[in-house]
Amino acid sequence: MYTSLLKMSDLNRDELFSLLDLASKLKNDRRLGVPHPLLAGKTLGMIFRKSSTRTRVSFETGMYQLGGYALFLSSADLQIGRGEPVEDTARVLGRYLDGIMIRTFAQEEVEQLALHSGLPVINGLTDYAHPCQVLADLMTIREYKGGFDGRKLCYIGDGNNMCNSLIVGCLTAGMDVAIAVPEKYRPAEDVLEFAKSYDSKFIMTEDPFKAAEKADVLYTDVWASMGMEEESEQRRRDFKGYQINREIEAVAAKDVIVQHCLPAHREEEITADVFERHANEIFDEAENRLHAQKAVMATLMK
Ligand code: CP
Ligand code: NVA
Repeated sequence: MYTSLLKMSDLNRDELFSLLDLASKLKNDRRLGVPHPLLAGKTLGMIFRKSSTRTRVSFETGMYQLGGYALFLSSADLQIGRGEPVEDTARVLGRYLDGIMIRTFAQEEVEQLALHSGLPVINGLTDYAHPCQVLADLMTIREYKGGFDGRKLCYIGDGNNMCNSLIVGCLTAGMDVAIAVPEKYRPAEDVLEFAKSYDSKFIMTEDPFKAAEKADVLYTDVWASMGMEEESEQRRRDFKGYQINREIEAVAAKDVIVQHCLPAHREEEITADVFERHANEIFDEAENRLHAQKAVMATLMK
């Protein structure tokens, strides 16, 4: 049983499906106007070392809808930003809060926070992983495709935090996964090791067209993630061709959906044309961050 959500592999298949089911129930409750104050009296601290629109707003709003309270803690204002060790910050926050969400650079920092705070910790994005996004993605895929078995997700672009978490999450859910990444930008070694046990359900190639063949879901993310801004020029050259466009769409399944974690850079990883034609799917995906994270908080913090 997991006590924190630090990366996708913290969840087994049953735990993953329980979270998705709860997320769908909470979404439906809200449509019907049924309140669900599952975390009344509880407080979530949200530490941010990087920018955010979706993660910040969906966690804060989600906590409010669950009857609890959320504190926005920018690292620029915390003593952690002036060098107070994470172990000390963790031991202090552990005495005030009921849970912590953190967005930072190093995965190790998230692990340390969980170890020393004694609280449920939720990874709101590190350089290595973005599990909350993938829960919302899987929720959206299930809404559009009705299930996961036999469905294929194709990811085109950087072997980054999104790619790492999608590989683990989609394989765990039962999907086939094909990724097209340049040799220099492959996903993390431990993720590739995880994927090995799924044999032919996983392929990695440098050819976006091969990866996209008959895909039910096309997924991409920015070429230069937060913290890599100075590499943008180099990456624009290295990722040329790793784009979701009309030609890629043409080799995918006829009823393909397109997903993007956002923010998107039009005409880099995705054309404006494809983005706008699939905007409903992409913004449903963004909405599902709220429902999926409420399920995570309600499960870990109650
Ligand atoms: N997708 C995502 O995590 O968005 P934000 O960076 O706006 O939180
Ligand atoms: N890979 C991107 C995801 C943003 C949600 C980043 O880390 O900046």
